[in-house]
Amino acid sequence: MTLTIATTPFADQKPGTSGLRKKVRVFQQPNYAENFVQSVFDVLEGYAGQTLVLGGDGRFLNREVIQTAIRMAAANGFGRVLVGLRGILSTPAASNVIRKYEAFGGLVLSASHNPGGPDEDFGIKYNIGNGGPAPEKITDAIYARTKVIDRYLTVDAPDVDLDCLGETLVAGMIVAVIDPVADYAELMEQLFDFDAIRDLIAGGFRLSFDAMHAVTGPYAQEILERRLGASAGTVVNGTPLPDFGGHHPDPNTVHAHELFERMFGADAPDFGAASDGDGDRNLILGRNIFVTPSDSLAALAANAHLAPGYACGLRGIARSMPTSAAADRVAQALGLPLHETPTGWKFFGNLLDAGMATICGEESAGTGSNHVREKDGLWAILLWLNILAVRRESVAAIMESHWARFGRNYYARHDYEGVDAVAAERLIAELRAALSILVGRMVQGLTVVSADEFEYLDPVDGSLSRNQGLRVQFEGGARIVFRLSGTGTSGATLRVYLERYEWPDGILDADTTVALIDLVAAADDLAGITRHTGRSAPSVIT
Ligand code: G1P
Ligand code: ZN
Repeated sequence: MTLTIATTPFADQKPGTSGLRKKVRVFQQPNYAENFVQSVFDVLEGYAGQTLVLGGDGRFLNREVIQTAIRMAAANGFGRVLVGLRGILSTPAASNVIRKYEAFGGLVLSASHNPGGPDEDFGIKYNIGNGGPAPEKITDAIYARTKVIDRYLTVDAPDVDLDCLGETLVAGMIVAVIDPVADYAELMEQLFDFDAIRDLIAGGFRLSFDAMHAVTGPYAQEILERRLGASAGTVVNGTPLPDFGGHHPDPNTVHAHELFERMFGADAPDFGAASDGDGDRNLILGRNIFVTPSDSLAALAANAHLAPGYACGLRGIARSMPTSAAADRVAQALGLPLHETPTGWKFFGNLLDAGMATICGEESAGTGSNHVREKDGLWAILLWLNILAVRRESVAAIMESHWARFGRNYYARHDYEGVDAVAAERLIAELRAALSILVGRMVQGLTVVSADEFEYLDPVDGSLSRNQGLRVQFEGGARIVFRLSGTGTSGATLRVYLERYEWPDGILDADTTVALIDLVAAADDLAGITRHTGRSAPSVIT
């Protein structure tokens, strides 16, 4: 029996974002999650009798919201729900399941790399039938719906047992609890040479993977330890916990510092990697070397043909605008198109669907390919392992020969977090107004060759995205990009992306901080960062 429950309207989703991300306490308010799920269903058309994929990163509230969504999917007329065992599905695995079983779409429960637990964050995101995040047209409609929603549909049915594989009926709708790892591992086996990686590992190659008590633990244990033969204990923090053990599941220098210490310490393994809360980000380390995400994208693109899934070459490479131009050098050398998109994975979807790009990446630790429609942490790690297995060189040696061939893009992102939102807007507005007079000027000894505000005309659907970041390009390939974060939760976050290019025959500085020192000063000269924000240094450097 379908129940219609009257609710109070709410207007909480940030427009332009791909899902709803809030504190757990906010989600625990009566009807809150229900209102959002119903708003999603209300704007979709044609899903009667179709399949919905459901799963999350295991954080606090995951199971409760899954049970709620199952009852609501039944009441709204879905024919089948595929849910990951124990409610677990990594974001890339959910994307794969949606594609493989030709589902109508999926609800992914996660707040990505944000902390979890009763006082931390939760999120719900809708993915469409291609497996990717819903485009703006749909998220805007969902947002509009959340403002006026006044009822939701549910059924009176007991909870589904999420701890056992198999099918049950909920008010006539099939609920199948599926193995979250099997389909994903199978896809990875199609793309990569597991025999070669197994040989590498059997030959004494040592690796360490930090799952950060988040969703990738079971995937990494199955793939790295069981299928590829890495020793037990290769996967650390491998059990998903509702509060991620009290840590931020964000694979960076701060939150994955143990892995950094291991990789830069005595007797370091050959390869170190980590992924975030929902498994879409990646961190790549070799012995005594951190590979920046921009460099990783470039190195993966240059070597992808060594993996069976990419042996026929790439159709193109796509990167978000603030990501370094390292991948551009590879595209140029290989004669491939290079697409520059706004920040956010959703912009890659059309290029991948249209076969215009094969590999995509963002400076924020996201890399992926046309195998799914989300970025994919373990995929990047396995492609690295495949390349290492074929080349039989260290990570450091691979990067050195990469820079010797393509040149090196020294790169850093400086984040000024929690700055006053009005001051941040003023900084951007002033710099925007000054862009036209910058060309030809010298700043800290560097000549500005162009200055503009990035906008993107999607070559597939013709949509135009404006105001995607201010960029100042200098002679010799150096660049500074300024933009405000779209995902921050308190105040504004100013992101300043700094990049300097060294030709292959240039003098390689090796130290990024030294290489970028003039650009840091130039950024302040151009934008008045200290003057506007009162900050003399960034809160985080990545
Ligand atoms: C950040 C990253 C961006 C990524 C997004 C979602 O967005 O910069 O690359 O796609 O998180 O993971 P931002 O806060 O910069 O808007
Ligand atoms: Zn994530």
